[in-house]
Amino acid sequence: MTNHPVLSVHKISMRFGGLNALNKVSLQVFPREIAALIGPNGAGKTTFFNCVTGIYKPSGGYIELNGPDLRPKRINGLKPNLITRSGLARTFQNIRLFENMSVLENVMVGCHCRTTSNFLNAIIQTSSFKKEEQGVIEKSYELLKLVGLQGSANLSAKNLPYAEQRSLEIARALATEPRLLLLDEPAAGMNPQETTKLDQLIMKIRERFNLAVLLIEHDMKLVMRISDKVFVMAQGEKIAEGTPGEIQNNPRVIKAYLGEEVDVVS
Ligand SMILES: Nc1ncnc2c1ncn2[C@@H]1O[C@H](COP(=O)(O)OP(=O)(O)O)[C@@H](O)[C@H]1O
Ligand SMILES: [Mg+2]
Repeated sequence: MTNHPVLSVHKISMRFGGLNALNKVSLQVFPREIAALIGPNGAGKTTFFNCVTGIYKPSGGYIELNGPDLRPKRINGLKPNLITRSGLARTFQNIRLFENMSVLENVMVGCHCRTTSNFLNAIIQTSSFKKEEQGVIEKSYELLKLVGLQGSANLSAKNLPYAEQRSLEIARALATEPRLLLLDEPAAGMNPQETTKLDQLIMKIRERFNLAVLLIEHDMKLVMRISDKVFVMAQGEKIAEGTPGEIQNNPRVIKAYLGEEVDVVS
């Protein structure tokens, strides 16, 4: 592990009218790290992802993503597609697939963030376009295989069972070749067997692509099993950071969860 973080967030704030959804939140994620962002509902976790991925523009602070050359690049204010190209991909709490496209086509859309053929080449089907497209299809099949969906490539995305739609979102995100992958509640709606498979998938992805993962998750067992580091948010602020063991014993964290159904100490 190097000393250079892949993501460095410096005191970002986000206001919605009178609500401080994020108040000077800072955190760093290092290469190959699996980090979790936890906290009660409404803590600001998704808002944090939305700021980091360019969906919202933070009202204060800044965000740096380290390039392969280890030079930090400021990404706040950039449009989401440019942030994706800079090496940051995500999945959504409310699944956002292209429902009427096939499973394979959904992954191909992700690949196109890295292809060079332009619209005109595509229309007139130049040979370079066809060659590039063939590569995209092969890469997309590989990614479907990785997440266990190769047998469903030609199904309509909307016909996949829920847990498989979440896996497909991960495959599509990986197709953009990220150095950091953000997952917003990847285990939501999954049964225990599906969650165990997700554990393995996340670890496998880290090994295969050498990437870092930051995940928002309510399933504390999953968080404790796979995370190297945990960040805890409550009411728009980061209230703790540490290893899973440190977090489980932190009184501030336990207090933040009082009244929630999630059992942080289980
Ligand atoms: N677009 C928005 N407009 C107004 N308020 C918002 C918006 N998005 C989120 N919020 C509010 O910000 C707070 C944090 O929400 P969110 O980031 O979704 O929390 P979490 O993901 O931790 O459950 C909540 O009070 C939520 O209602
Ligand atoms: Mg959320």
